[in-house]
Amino acid sequence: MRLDKFLSTTLGITRKEAGKLLKNKEIEVNGEIVKNGSLKVTDDCDVEFNGRTLSFMGPRYFMLNKPQGFVCSHVDDYNPTVFVLLDEVSPEKLHVAGRLDGDTTGLVLLTDDGQWSHRITSPRHVCEKVYYVELADPVAEDVATAFAEGVQLRGEKDLTRPAKLDILGEREALITISEGKYHQVKRMFAAVGNKVVALHREQIGSVELDEDLEPGEYRPLSEEEIASFLK
Ligand code: URA
Repeated sequence: MRLDKFLSTTLGITRKEAGKLLKNKEIEVNGEIVKNGSLKVTDDCDVEFNGRTLSFMGPRYFMLNKPQGFVCSHVDDYNPTVFVLLDEVSPEKLHVAGRLDGDTTGLVLLTDDGQWSHRITSPRHVCEKVYYVELADPVAEDVATAFAEGVQLRGEKDLTRPAKLDILGEREALITISEGKYHQVKRMFAAVGNKVVALHREQIGSVELDEDLEPGEYRPLSEEEIASFLK
């Protein structure tokens, strides 16, 4: 493949932009600066941009520990987006598989594989998500029964799918839901007269947030984690 095509594919840029990088002597092939876009590159060439080796990208999969105040969309007028936390080539090609609210923290999965994220977000697939919740008021025992039966959210036609509530303390609980309606957890507690004051996602399917990841840190998913959504 021509070097300029290789650059545009791996960096997600146009051929013209690739030409500029070459002209500006920003590309090295096997340790030598190269300016000629027609140079043929093969699998065994070491192509570097900004000190980073470029390779043909397969689909990408990451887990991020989302900090508070970051939004899961690509563009926001007021808040930073989770994508600024990624030190990756072409972060604009990635999307979030199941958004969190700006004030919610914890596990976010990011990918450029739309079919894979569909398995996580589509209502046709049952994918459980576990959240740690802190509440304004004490949580009553009968809320667990109400959630197990499904609750009526304002503005929704159907009851929520059965959810599991593990009460951990007077004002804290773990909730497991298998759908992703807008503000679902907050609205479920509102439906039983309580208010969520802190929300943290711990798990999606069988993938748990890595305890080693500080807020704002991320890592690639393992092969096993990726495959767990395809079973
Ligand atoms: N439910 C909510 O209310 N907010 C989230 O961010 C996720 C689930």
